[in-house]
Amino acid sequence: HAASRALRLLISAGPTREPIDRVRFLSNYSTGYMGALLAAEALKRGHRAVVVHGPITEPLPRGVLAIPVEQATQMERALRRSARVADVVVMAAAVSDFRAARQASGKRRRQGRQTLLLRATPDIIGRLPRRPRQLVVGFAVESAHVVQRARRKLQRKRLDLVLAQRANGTGAPFGRHPVQAWLLSRGGEVAPLGTITKPQAARTLLDKIEALWYGQPERARRT
Ligand code: C5P
Repeated sequence: HAASRALRLLISAGPTREPIDRVRFLSNYSTGYMGALLAAEALKRGHRAVVVHGPITEPLPRGVLAIPVEQATQMERALRRSARVADVVVMAAAVSDFRAARQASGKRRRQGRQTLLLRATPDIIGRLPRRPRQLVVGFAVESAHVVQRARRKLQRKRLDLVLAQRANGTGAPFGRHPVQAWLLSRGGEVAPLGTITKPQAARTLLDKIEALWYGQPERARRT
């Protein structure tokens, strides 16, 4: 039976880099740790994992198919290709929200005062074509009104699950920090997870994904 087989997970991880000119880029503090932990946890449970990742500083577990990319547009292309055969898409990457509106071909000169015009990147997960029964999981990092904003994200991006985290300080919640987290589900359920480590967060997320995939009657699932 299809429901009892191993899952094919597609996980995005790490930051993206958006070039400003030949030698500079915009990025963020994401390390790829969460994505790597999710992939490791998935493999441990007998699932398969493909990881599309930006420039990460944390190692990926052996046994994943790793697809390296740099920019948000490249990440979107790679995810669209791989999502066609994925049961679950987990969007753990910290996609840069902006890219340079125009990329200088050479190197920008150091001048007293200059303007960098930015343009929003595509919302990759929000506009990913969905397969029937596919589960789509997103993350939300917020500094205030965490649950409320995460719920809006879940609805707007048509997600099945959102792991919401509070941002509280420079760099955090990126990297190996414990995080204050909540798990939101499509039905409107909000589970406060308290302050947990990222390995705990990865286990909780995989538990929930497996429960949704295997545990619910067919008719309760999205088709
Ligand atoms: O809107 P926000 O960036 O907070 O949403 C976070 C979620 O959306 C994350 O799962 C992130 O990977 C994803 N995302 C995306 N494409 C973007 C920005 C964020 O898929 N351009």
